[in-house]
Amino acid sequence: MPAAIPRLGVNIDHVATIRNARGGAHPDPVRAAQAAAEAGADGITLHVREDRRHVREEDLARLSTSVTLPINLEMACTPEMLAMALAAHPNACCLVPERREERTTEGGLDVARGHNEVAPYVTRLRDAGIRVSLFIDPHPVQIAVAHALGAPVVELHTGAYCAAVTSGDIMRAETELDAIRAAAAAGAALGIEIHAGHGITFDSVGPVAAVREIAELNIGHFLIGEAIFTGLDAAVRRMRALMAEARTR
Ligand code: PXP
Repeated sequence: MPAAIPRLGVNIDHVATIRNARGGAHPDPVRAAQAAAEAGADGITLHVREDRRHVREEDLARLSTSVTLPINLEMACTPEMLAMALAAHPNACCLVPERREERTTEGGLDVARGHNEVAPYVTRLRDAGIRVSLFIDPHPVQIAVAHALGAPVVELHTGAYCAAVTSGDIMRAETELDAIRAAAAAGAALGIEIHAGHGITFDSVGPVAAVREIAELNIGHFLIGEAIFTGLDAAVRRMRALMAEARTR
């Protein structure tokens, strides 16, 4: 059974989005990672995208030498990203789908359809001693194929649930939450470590953090946005407090 309170991985991509808007060095995502660590984050997550719209490989390299927390690299299944991951050797890699025209990772990786494409990436990363996670929709078929692929971890896409919470659609939110709960239980029963993330806010975190099989949440955009108003330290501390409250209730 996972630890009493899920780990919090803070995604620092959007600090780099703001930096890149002016092409300079400020605000520095590595400094944000250090601030998140001081506020109690358990890991740092980043997604180097094909178009480098936010963090870049230099950020990954600097992070590796500047923070002691585990680093989770989100990456598409491409030879370029695999080479980068093998060179940087983060603690974990989360395989995600990627389309240039999307604003963010809009759905999970369809491992049922893309099994043959994904399989060699799982093998190469596992062989290199990197913990591999598959970012999938909370669906029984995706869980079963993730297991067949030998993935030790899956991250359940919480975007549909969080969107329902934000729009006030309580029935929809409950349906999406049931799918997350069922996928988490099915995955854990197969021995897979369960993570979750995407779109999580202070309003939506509680019910996800309360799912006992979930060992880690990865949260980015909301925390960085909230940091504008309260500072990153306060935003991370409040998120962790809400996670702890939900799990121990
Ligand atoms: N987990 C994965 C696999 C993601 O791709 C993302 C977005 O980069 C997140 C978590 C974090 O999502 P958000 O920025 O909406 O909190």
